[in-house]
Amino acid sequence: MTGKTTDRAVLRVLDGEAVWPPPVWLMRQAGRYLPEYRKLRASAGNFIALCTTPGLATEATLQPVRRFGLDAAILFSDILILPWALGQKLRFAEGEGPVLGRIESLADVEALKLDRLKPGTEPVTETVARVRAELPGETVLIGFAGAPFTVACYMLDGRGGDFSRTRLLAYADPALLASVIEIVTTATVDYLCWQIEAGADCVMLFDSWAGMLPPDLFRAHVIHPTARIVEAVRYRHPGARIIGFPRLAGLMALPYIEETMVSGFGMDTATDAPGLVRLLPRKVALQGNLDPLLLRAGGVSLDQAAARIAGELAGMPHIFNLGHGILPDTPPEHVAALVERIRTLERPQGGASALEESRLAASSVS
Ligand code: CP3
Repeated sequence: MTGKTTDRAVLRVLDGEAVWPPPVWLMRQAGRYLPEYRKLRASAGNFIALCTTPGLATEATLQPVRRFGLDAAILFSDILILPWALGQKLRFAEGEGPVLGRIESLADVEALKLDRLKPGTEPVTETVARVRAELPGETVLIGFAGAPFTVACYMLDGRGGDFSRTRLLAYADPALLASVIEIVTTATVDYLCWQIEAGADCVMLFDSWAGMLPPDLFRAHVIHPTARIVEAVRYRHPGARIIGFPRLAGLMALPYIEETMVSGFGMDTATDAPGLVRLLPRKVALQGNLDPLLLRAGGVSLDQAAARIAGELAGMPHIFNLGHGILPDTPPEHVAALVERIRTLERPQGGASALEESRLAASSVS
Protein backbone atom coordinates (compact mmCIF):
# COMPACT_ATOMS: atom_id res chain seq x y z
CA MET A 1 0.00 0.00 0.00
CA THR A 2 1.35 3.38 -0.87
CA GLY A 3 0.90 5.81 2.00
CA LYS A 4 -1.95 7.96 0.73
CA THR A 5 -1.80 11.23 2.60
CA THR A 6 -5.42 12.16 1.87
CA ASP A 7 -7.88 12.59 4.79
CA ARG A 8 -8.03 16.26 3.81
CA ALA A 9 -4.28 16.66 4.33
CA VAL A 10 -4.23 19.75 2.09
CA LEU A 11 -6.50 21.52 4.59
CA ARG A 12 -4.43 20.39 7.57
CA VAL A 13 -1.33 21.81 5.88
CA LEU A 14 -3.12 25.10 5.15
CA ASP A 15 -3.96 25.21 8.86
CA GLY A 16 -0.23 25.02 9.62
CA GLU A 17 0.38 21.31 10.17
CA ALA A 18 3.43 19.56 8.69
CA VAL A 19 2.21 16.32 7.06
CA TRP A 20 4.57 13.57 5.82
CA PRO A 21 4.67 12.69 3.01
CA PRO A 22 3.29 16.02 1.79
CA PRO A 23 -0.11 15.98 0.07
CA VAL A 24 0.16 16.48 -3.68
CA TRP A 25 -1.85 18.04 -6.50
CA LEU A 26 -0.62 19.75 -9.67
CA MET A 27 -1.48 23.03 -11.33
CA ARG A 28 -3.27 22.36 -14.67
CA GLN A 29 -3.77 18.75 -13.63
CA ALA A 30 -6.79 18.69 -15.94
CA GLY A 31 -5.82 19.47 -19.50
CA ARG A 32 -4.56 18.52 -22.91
CA TYR A 33 -1.83 16.12 -21.72
CA LEU A 34 -4.68 13.72 -20.78
CA PRO A 35 -6.26 11.78 -23.69
CA GLU A 36 -9.60 11.65 -21.83
CA TYR A 37 -9.50 15.47 -21.56
CA ARG A 38 -8.86 15.88 -25.30
CA LYS A 39 -11.87 13.68 -25.99
CA LEU A 40 -14.10 15.66 -23.61
CA ARG A 41 -12.82 18.97 -25.02
CA ALA A 42 -13.66 17.83 -28.57
CA SER A 43 -17.18 16.86 -27.49
CA ALA A 44 -17.74 20.30 -25.94
CA GLY A 45 -16.87 22.11 -29.18
CA ASN A 46 -15.21 25.09 -27.56
CA PHE A 47 -13.35 25.80 -24.35
CA ILE A 48 -15.89 28.27 -22.88
CA ALA A 49 -18.67 25.69 -23.40
CA LEU A 50 -16.50 23.15 -21.56
CA CYS A 51 -16.07 25.57 -18.63
CA THR A 52 -19.74 26.57 -18.47
CA THR A 53 -21.48 23.20 -18.91
CA PRO A 54 -21.52 21.77 -15.37
CA GLY A 55 -21.69 18.13 -16.48
CA LEU A 56 -18.61 18.52 -18.70
CA ALA A 57 -16.64 20.73 -16.30
CA THR A 58 -17.35 18.28 -13.47
CA GLU A 59 -15.99 15.43 -15.58
CA ALA A 60 -12.85 17.44 -16.50
CA THR A 61 -12.27 18.24 -12.80
CA LEU A 62 -12.58 14.59 -11.76
CA GLN A 63 -10.49 13.02 -14.56
CA PRO A 64 -7.01 13.58 -13.07
CA VAL A 65 -8.19 12.71 -9.55
CA ARG A 66 -9.56 9.38 -10.77
CA ARG A 67 -6.45 8.58 -12.78
CA PHE A 68 -3.79 9.57 -10.23
CA GLY A 69 -5.55 9.63 -6.83
CA LEU A 70 -4.35 13.17 -6.10
CA ASP A 71 -5.01 14.78 -2.71
CA ALA A 72 -6.97 17.66 -4.23
CA ALA A 73 -9.19 18.43 -7.20
CA ILE A 74 -9.07 21.92 -8.67
CA LEU A 75 -12.29 23.24 -10.17
CA PHE A 76 -12.14 23.06 -13.95
CA SER A 77 -12.70 26.58 -15.25
CA ASP A 78 -10.50 29.49 -16.30
CA ILE A 79 -9.46 32.81 -14.77
CA LEU A 80 -10.99 34.60 -17.78
CA ILE A 81 -14.52 33.34 -17.10
CA LEU A 82 -14.89 36.24 -14.64
CA PRO A 83 -14.36 39.09 -17.16
CA TRP A 84 -16.48 37.09 -19.62
CA ALA A 85 -19.29 36.90 -17.03
CA LEU A 86 -19.02 40.68 -16.53
CA GLY A 87 -19.73 41.12 -20.23
CA GLN A 88 -16.29 41.30 -21.86
CA LYS A 89 -15.97 39.46 -25.18
CA LEU A 90 -13.82 36.33 -24.95
CA ARG A 91 -12.86 33.51 -27.26
CA PHE A 92 -10.14 30.89 -27.15
CA ALA A 93 -8.61 30.78 -30.59
CA GLU A 94 -7.01 27.46 -31.60
CA GLY A 95 -3.25 27.67 -31.11
CA GLU A 96 -3.50 31.33 -30.14
CA GLY A 97 -4.78 31.31 -26.57
CA PRO A 98 -7.40 33.72 -25.23
CA VAL A 99 -8.57 36.75 -27.22
CA LEU A 100 -10.67 39.37 -25.43
CA GLY A 101 -12.52 42.51 -26.52
CA ARG A 102 -9.88 44.95 -25.31
CA ILE A 103 -10.77 47.56 -22.66
CA GLU A 104 -9.80 50.91 -24.23
CA SER A 105 -11.30 53.49 -21.87
CA LEU A 106 -13.18 54.14 -18.63
CA ALA A 107 -16.39 53.91 -20.66
CA ASP A 108 -15.52 50.27 -21.47
CA VAL A 109 -15.02 49.57 -17.76
CA GLU A 110 -18.35 51.21 -16.97
CA ALA A 111 -20.01 49.00 -19.59
CA LEU A 112 -19.04 45.90 -17.55
CA LYS A 113 -21.95 44.76 -15.42
CA LEU A 114 -21.41 43.52 -11.87
CA ASP A 115 -25.03 42.36 -11.77
CA ARG A 116 -24.27 39.87 -14.56
CA LEU A 117 -21.69 38.14 -12.41
CA LYS A 118 -24.07 35.92 -10.46
CA PRO A 119 -26.00 34.53 -13.45
CA GLY A 120 -22.83 34.41 -15.58
CA THR A 121 -20.92 32.31 -13.04
CA GLU A 122 -23.87 30.13 -11.97
CA PRO A 123 -22.60 27.20 -14.13
CA VAL A 124 -19.25 27.42 -12.31
CA THR A 125 -20.78 27.32 -8.82
CA GLU A 126 -23.05 24.50 -10.01
CA THR A 127 -19.88 22.63 -11.09
CA VAL A 128 -18.36 23.17 -7.63
CA ALA A 129 -21.45 21.67 -5.99
CA ARG A 130 -21.50 18.68 -8.35
CA VAL A 131 -17.79 17.97 -7.95
CA ARG A 132 -18.03 18.20 -4.16
CA ALA A 133 -20.92 15.72 -4.20
CA GLU A 134 -18.97 13.25 -6.35
CA LEU A 135 -15.51 13.52 -4.78
CA PRO A 136 -14.47 11.16 -2.00
CA GLY A 137 -14.83 12.96 1.33
CA GLU A 138 -11.08 12.94 1.98
CA THR A 139 -10.22 14.69 -1.31
CA VAL A 140 -10.07 18.46 -1.04
CA LEU A 141 -11.78 20.66 -3.64
CA ILE A 142 -9.92 23.85 -4.55
CA GLY A 143 -11.89 26.74 -6.06
CA PHE A 144 -10.03 29.59 -7.74
CA ALA A 145 -9.98 32.93 -9.47
CA GLY A 146 -7.36 34.99 -11.23
CA ALA A 147 -5.89 37.70 -9.03
CA PRO A 148 -6.94 41.20 -10.14
CA PHE A 149 -3.64 42.24 -11.70
CA THR A 150 -3.31 39.15 -13.90
CA VAL A 151 -6.96 39.33 -14.97
CA ALA A 152 -6.51 43.06 -15.70
CA CYS A 153 -3.51 42.21 -17.91
CA TYR A 154 -5.73 40.14 -20.21
CA MET A 155 -8.61 42.64 -20.04
CA LEU A 156 -6.39 45.57 -21.04
CA ASP A 157 -4.03 43.88 -23.51
CA GLY A 158 -6.80 41.76 -25.03
CA ARG A 159 -4.54 38.71 -25.33
CA GLY A 160 -1.49 37.04 -23.82
CA GLY A 161 2.01 38.31 -24.56
CA ASP A 162 4.28 40.67 -22.66
CA PHE A 163 1.34 42.83 -21.45
CA SER A 164 3.26 45.97 -22.38
CA ARG A 165 0.03 47.97 -22.79
CA THR A 166 -1.13 47.19 -19.24
CA ARG A 167 2.32 47.95 -17.84
CA LEU A 168 2.50 51.24 -19.72
CA LEU A 169 -1.01 52.17 -18.55
CA ALA A 170 0.19 51.80 -14.95
CA TYR A 171 2.13 55.02 -15.62
CA ALA A 172 0.32 56.65 -18.55
CA ASP A 173 -3.29 56.15 -17.39
CA PRO A 174 -3.22 54.91 -13.79
CA ALA A 175 -6.94 55.68 -13.34
CA LEU A 176 -7.86 53.20 -16.10
CA LEU A 177 -5.75 50.38 -14.65
CA ALA A 178 -7.04 51.19 -11.14
CA SER A 179 -10.66 51.05 -12.29
CA VAL A 180 -10.17 47.62 -13.90
CA ILE A 181 -8.40 46.31 -10.77
CA GLU A 182 -11.22 47.77 -8.66
CA ILE A 183 -14.08 46.04 -10.49
CA VAL A 184 -12.19 42.74 -10.68
CA THR A 185 -11.38 42.90 -6.94
CA THR A 186 -15.03 43.52 -6.04
CA ALA A 187 -16.24 40.76 -8.37
CA THR A 188 -13.61 38.29 -7.15
CA VAL A 189 -14.75 38.58 -3.53
CA ASP A 190 -18.30 37.53 -4.48
CA TYR A 191 -17.08 34.89 -6.93
CA LEU A 192 -14.81 33.17 -4.37
CA CYS A 193 -17.48 33.38 -1.65
CA TRP A 194 -20.02 31.72 -3.97
CA GLN A 195 -17.53 28.94 -4.70
CA ILE A 196 -16.98 28.42 -0.95
CA GLU A 197 -20.74 28.41 -0.36
CA ALA A 198 -21.15 25.80 -3.12
CA GLY A 199 -18.60 23.49 -1.44
CA ALA A 200 -15.03 24.58 -2.30
CA ASP A 201 -12.85 23.64 0.70
CA CYS A 202 -10.27 26.32 -0.05
CA VAL A 203 -9.57 28.77 -2.86
CA MET A 204 -6.51 29.89 -4.81
CA LEU A 205 -5.68 33.22 -6.44
CA PHE A 206 -3.54 32.89 -9.58
CA ASP A 207 -1.36 35.94 -10.17
CA SER A 208 0.71 34.59 -13.04
CA TRP A 209 2.05 37.95 -14.21
CA ALA A 210 2.68 39.61 -10.82
CA GLY A 211 6.44 39.29 -11.28
CA MET A 212 6.54 41.85 -14.11
CA LEU A 213 5.91 44.74 -11.73
CA PRO A 214 8.44 46.93 -9.94
CA PRO A 215 8.05 46.95 -6.13
CA ASP A 216 5.83 50.05 -5.80
CA LEU A 217 3.40 48.79 -8.45
CA PHE A 218 3.55 45.27 -6.99
CA ARG A 219 2.33 46.73 -3.68
CA ALA A 220 -0.43 48.73 -5.35
CA HIS A 221 -1.72 46.12 -7.83
CA VAL A 222 -0.80 42.77 -6.31
CA ILE A 223 -0.52 43.05 -2.51
CA HIS A 224 -3.30 45.57 -1.84
CA PRO A 225 -6.07 43.98 -3.94
CA THR A 226 -5.11 40.51 -2.70
CA ALA A 227 -5.19 41.69 0.94
CA ARG A 228 -8.63 43.21 0.32
CA ILE A 229 -9.93 39.98 -1.18
CA VAL A 230 -8.54 37.84 1.67
CA GLU A 231 -10.04 40.15 4.29
CA ALA A 232 -13.44 40.44 2.59
CA VAL A 233 -13.74 36.68 1.93
CA ARG A 234 -12.82 35.94 5.57
CA TYR A 235 -15.33 38.55 6.78
CA ARG A 236 -18.06 36.47 5.12
CA HIS A 237 -16.38 33.09 5.72
CA PRO A 238 -14.25 33.28 8.87
CA GLY A 239 -11.22 31.06 8.66
CA ALA A 240 -11.46 30.67 4.86
CA ARG A 241 -8.28 29.07 3.52
CA ILE A 242 -6.76 31.01 0.64
CA ILE A 243 -3.63 30.18 -1.37
CA GLY A 244 -1.86 33.04 -3.17
CA PHE A 245 0.37 32.47 -6.21
CA PRO A 246 2.11 35.69 -7.23
CA ARG A 247 4.39 34.12 -9.83
CA LEU A 248 7.98 35.37 -10.01
CA ALA A 249 7.44 37.74 -7.08
CA GLY A 250 11.07 37.34 -5.97
CA LEU A 251 11.73 39.16 -2.69
CA MET A 252 8.26 40.74 -2.88
CA ALA A 253 7.05 37.33 -1.67
CA LEU A 254 7.96 38.51 1.83
CA PRO A 255 5.66 41.56 2.11
CA TYR A 256 3.06 39.61 0.08
CA ILE A 257 2.97 36.84 2.71
CA GLU A 258 3.08 39.29 5.61
CA GLU A 259 0.46 41.75 4.36
CA THR A 260 -2.06 39.64 2.43
CA MET A 261 -2.43 37.03 5.21
CA VAL A 262 -2.90 34.20 2.72
CA SER A 263 -2.99 30.73 4.33
CA GLY A 264 -0.74 29.26 1.66
CA PHE A 265 1.94 30.67 -0.62
CA GLY A 266 2.45 29.14 -4.06
CA MET A 267 6.15 29.04 -4.90
CA ASP A 268 7.00 29.37 -8.59
CA THR A 269 9.76 27.36 -10.26
CA ALA A 270 12.39 30.03 -9.58
CA THR A 271 11.80 30.16 -5.80
CA ASP A 272 14.61 28.83 -3.61
CA ALA A 273 12.41 27.08 -1.03
CA PRO A 274 14.96 26.74 1.81
CA GLY A 275 16.02 30.36 1.25
CA LEU A 276 12.41 31.52 1.46
CA VAL A 277 11.85 29.48 4.64
CA ARG A 278 14.75 31.28 6.31
CA LEU A 279 13.20 34.66 5.52
CA LEU A 280 9.50 33.94 6.17
CA PRO A 281 7.89 36.84 8.07
CA ARG A 282 5.26 34.55 9.65
CA LYS A 283 4.12 30.96 9.60
CA VAL A 284 2.49 30.10 6.27
CA ALA A 285 1.95 26.90 4.30
CA LEU A 286 4.16 26.59 1.22
CA GLN A 287 3.06 25.00 -2.04
CA GLY A 288 5.24 23.97 -4.95
CA ASN A 289 7.57 24.03 -6.76
CA LEU A 290 8.87 21.34 -9.10
CA ASP A 291 9.87 22.58 -12.57
CA PRO A 292 7.10 21.51 -15.02
CA LEU A 293 9.86 20.70 -17.53
CA LEU A 294 11.26 18.09 -15.14
CA LEU A 295 7.83 16.46 -15.04
CA ARG A 296 7.88 16.41 -18.83
CA ALA A 297 11.41 14.97 -18.87
CA GLY A 298 10.68 12.25 -16.29
CA GLY A 299 13.17 9.63 -15.16
CA VAL A 300 15.77 9.73 -12.42
CA SER A 301 16.17 13.51 -12.38
CA LEU A 302 12.42 13.88 -11.75
CA ASP A 303 12.62 11.36 -8.89
CA GLN A 304 15.59 13.10 -7.36
CA ALA A 305 14.17 16.60 -7.61
CA ALA A 306 10.82 15.52 -6.14
CA ALA A 307 12.58 13.89 -3.18
CA ARG A 308 14.84 16.91 -2.71
CA ILE A 309 11.99 19.44 -2.67
CA ALA A 310 9.89 17.38 -0.25
CA GLY A 311 12.95 16.68 1.92
CA GLU A 312 14.00 20.32 2.09
CA LEU A 313 10.53 21.26 3.33
CA ALA A 314 10.06 18.33 5.71
CA GLY A 315 8.82 19.63 9.05
CA MET A 316 7.15 22.59 7.35
CA PRO A 317 3.52 22.77 6.30
CA HIS A 318 4.06 21.89 2.60
CA ILE A 319 1.78 20.93 -0.28
CA PHE A 320 3.74 19.34 -3.11
CA ASN A 321 3.00 20.90 -6.51
CA LEU A 322 4.70 22.25 -9.62
CA GLY A 323 6.14 25.76 -9.93
CA HIS A 324 3.71 26.43 -12.83
CA GLY A 325 1.16 24.41 -14.80
CA ILE A 326 1.64 20.98 -16.41
CA LEU A 327 2.86 21.32 -20.01
CA PRO A 328 0.52 19.88 -22.68
CA ASP A 329 3.16 17.44 -23.99
CA THR A 330 3.78 15.85 -20.57
CA PRO A 331 3.39 12.05 -20.63
CA PRO A 332 0.64 11.08 -18.14
CA GLU A 333 2.85 8.20 -16.91
CA HIS A 334 5.30 10.78 -15.55
CA VAL A 335 2.51 12.24 -13.40
CA ALA A 336 1.65 8.76 -12.10
CA ALA A 337 5.34 8.15 -11.33
CA LEU A 338 5.65 11.48 -9.50
CA VAL A 339 2.62 10.83 -7.30
CA GLU A 340 3.91 7.34 -6.49
CA ARG A 341 7.37 8.77 -5.68
CA ILE A 342 5.91 11.33 -3.26
CA ARG A 343 3.68 8.76 -1.57
CA THR A 344 6.58 6.36 -0.95
CA LEU A 345 9.15 8.92 0.25
CA GLU A 346 11.05 7.97 3.34
CA ARG A 347 10.93 10.45 6.14
CA PRO A 348 14.26 12.33 6.07
CA GLN A 349 16.38 11.94 9.19
CA GLY A 350 16.72 15.25 10.98
CA GLY A 351 15.50 17.20 7.94
CA ALA A 352 12.96 19.15 9.92
CA SER A 353 15.25 20.06 12.75
CA ALA A 354 18.03 21.11 10.36
CA LEU A 355 15.63 23.56 8.77
CA GLU A 356 14.40 24.81 12.15
CA GLU A 357 18.00 25.28 13.30
CA SER A 358 18.88 27.35 10.25
CA ARG A 359 15.79 29.51 10.87
CA LEU A 360 16.78 30.03 14.50
CA ALA A 361 20.36 30.82 13.49
CA ALA A 362 19.09 33.34 10.94
CA SER A 363 16.77 35.03 13.47
CA SER A 364 19.41 35.20 16.20
CA VAL A 365 21.74 37.14 13.88
CA SER A 366 19.22 39.94 13.41
O1 CP3 B 1 -6.47 21.94 -13.98
C1 CP3 B 1 -6.46 23.13 -13.60
O2 CP3 B 1 -5.44 23.74 -13.22
C2 CP3 B 1 -7.79 23.86 -13.50
C3 CP3 B 1 -8.19 24.67 -14.60
C4 CP3 B 1 -7.43 25.92 -15.03
C5 CP3 B 1 -7.30 26.27 -16.39
N1 CP3 B 1 -6.72 27.50 -16.45
C6 CP3 B 1 -7.77 25.45 -17.51
C7 CP3 B 1 -7.32 25.77 -18.88
C8 CP3 B 1 -6.83 26.93 -14.27
C9 CP3 B 1 -6.63 27.02 -12.77
C10 CP3 B 1 -6.39 27.93 -15.19
C11 CP3 B 1 -5.75 29.18 -14.77
C12 CP3 B 1 -5.29 30.13 -15.79
N2 CP3 B 1 -5.86 30.41 -17.01
C13 CP3 B 1 -4.18 30.99 -15.61
C14 CP3 B 1 -3.32 31.07 -14.36
C15 CP3 B 1 -2.34 29.98 -14.24
C16 CP3 B 1 -1.24 29.99 -15.26
O3 CP3 B 1 -1.19 29.02 -16.05
O4 CP3 B 1 -0.43 30.93 -15.28
C17 CP3 B 1 -4.05 31.77 -16.78
C18 CP3 B 1 -3.00 32.81 -17.03
C19 CP3 B 1 -5.12 31.41 -17.65
C20 CP3 B 1 -5.45 32.00 -18.98
C21 CP3 B 1 -5.41 30.99 -20.07
N3 CP3 B 1 -6.31 29.95 -20.22
C22 CP3 B 1 -4.48 30.91 -21.13
C23 CP3 B 1 -3.31 31.85 -21.33
C24 CP3 B 1 -4.84 29.81 -21.91
C25 CP3 B 1 -4.22 29.40 -23.23
C26 CP3 B 1 -2.94 28.68 -23.03
C27 CP3 B 1 -3.20 27.21 -23.04
O5 CP3 B 1 -2.62 26.52 -22.19
O6 CP3 B 1 -3.94 26.78 -23.93
C28 CP3 B 1 -5.96 29.20 -21.30
C29 CP3 B 1 -6.66 27.99 -21.76
C30 CP3 B 1 -6.84 26.88 -20.77
N4 CP3 B 1 -7.20 27.02 -19.47
C31 CP3 B 1 -6.72 25.49 -21.05
C32 CP3 B 1 -7.02 24.79 -19.88
C33 CP3 B 1 -7.09 23.30 -19.68
C34 CP3 B 1 -6.40 24.88 -22.42
C35 CP3 B 1 -7.59 25.02 -23.28
C36 CP3 B 1 -7.77 23.92 -24.27
O7 CP3 B 1 -8.26 22.84 -23.88
O8 CP3 B 1 -7.47 24.16 -25.43
